[in-house]
Amino acid sequence: MEYQIPKGLYDILPFSKEEFKLIDKWQYLESVIFKLAEDYNYEEIRTPIFEKTELFVRGVGETSDIASKELYTFLDKAKRSMSLRPEGTASIMRSFIENSLNQHKKLNKFFYIGPMFRYDRPQAGRYRQFYQFGIEVIGKKSPEIDVETIDMLINLFKRLELKNLKLIINSLGDADTRKNYKKALLEYLKPSFEKLSKDSKERFEKNPLRILDSKESSDKELLINAPKILDFLSDEAKDHFEKVKDLLEKLSIEYVIDTNLVRGLDYYDDTVFEVVSHELGSQNSLGGGGRFNTLLKSLNGPDLPGVGFACGMERILQTMIKQEVYFPQKKAPFLFIIPTTDKAKEFAFILTKELRHHKIPTDIDLDTKKIQKSIGVADKIGAENILILAEDEMTSKKATYKNLKTREQVAVDFDNLKTFIKDKYYKLKGKL
Ligand code: HAM
Repeated sequence: MEYQIPKGLYDILPFSKEEFKLIDKWQYLESVIFKLAEDYNYEEIRTPIFEKTELFVRGVGETSDIASKELYTFLDKAKRSMSLRPEGTASIMRSFIENSLNQHKKLNKFFYIGPMFRYDRPQAGRYRQFYQFGIEVIGKKSPEIDVETIDMLINLFKRLELKNLKLIINSLGDADTRKNYKKALLEYLKPSFEKLSKDSKERFEKNPLRILDSKESSDKELLINAPKILDFLSDEAKDHFEKVKDLLEKLSIEYVIDTNLVRGLDYYDDTVFEVVSHELGSQNSLGGGGRFNTLLKSLNGPDLPGVGFACGMERILQTMIKQEVYFPQKKAPFLFIIPTTDKAKEFAFILTKELRHHKIPTDIDLDTKKIQKSIGVADKIGAENILILAEDEMTSKKATYKNLKTREQVAVDFDNLKTFIKDKYYKLKGKL
């Protein structure tokens, strides 16, 4: 085919063999997310999908892979450098500052859903355009907020009936913690520098903490006896982390500590966390986040801390499908009308319009050839009932109404037709 979708992208469709691409599954996931956000009192923010490149470079950190290798960057017609957003946090912070949202003296709890863009090597669970649901809370330093965000992520997975997930936490402390730790880590790794992987060698100078993230087995082996960041926490950071752990236990949220969890973005302080599923292969992170105490200030905003997470909607759906969790039935018309003559079609066309105006999901076959064929179409689209208007029906002025599941069939007087259908529909929906 001449025109193909670019690599790493995909369509979300009404029909697809790959189940995670099915629109009804996305709509279900979105509905669960919206209810969750309501229950935790988070308000939605929608920001544009591109921003000035500097925002992301500043926001996620110059040395991160996301800013240095994965940005989709282009010059607009005035030759200003713009980039598609690789994540949501930087944009939410920009918007918070620019719109002075702090002046509203509200709780500053925000959520977002939308496409993000990263130019990375596509593979299962990794796309160049992917969707995130994320939240950010601004202005609160207390460990309760870290735990509220973690609980919200865990609760989302619980509501979706996901199993066998693991919550991993760590603390990256404050700037001093990381400065001291980096020094110790570099000292430890220096004698073995030549044994490090190519990526880790690069990170040695630029961003040594990311070496802890390496998936290479040789790096992993070297790191076994490396100093641990938790031994370098300042008193304040230690106290914060202890409280986070204690609160997680109080809320009966199971976790494991992984001192190598550093996350791929440079803005984190103190708590970082990730939820992983072993059923996802190498791209096993369903969601992750943490605290960022200096990001707003570094973007010339108020000196306020923040904490949040984002989760990948494709990976969530893929895990749900793998685990065969509940999905609601696909929405389908309540009634499919099958007229077989021109006169019947005119009558049916008006009836269809009227039923739709009464909010009854209705469709019509405008080119019925054989009734059996049209019934096949009704079956395919999942219609619950059909209404046949053939020659006999037009002469007797009685339509044939049939429930496709129970096979129950009745002849309904034209005079009574709308009331009959409305009764059936609203009874079914429990609205009568
Ligand atoms: P992140 O860990 O880079 O964090 O992304 C969050 C989630 O997005 C990942 O756990 C994964 O499920 C999904 N994800 C990331 N990249 C891809 C991809 N290429 N294809 C499919 N899914 C992907 C952030 O983005 C931070 N902004 C989270 C945050 C919010 N921290 C504080 N507030």
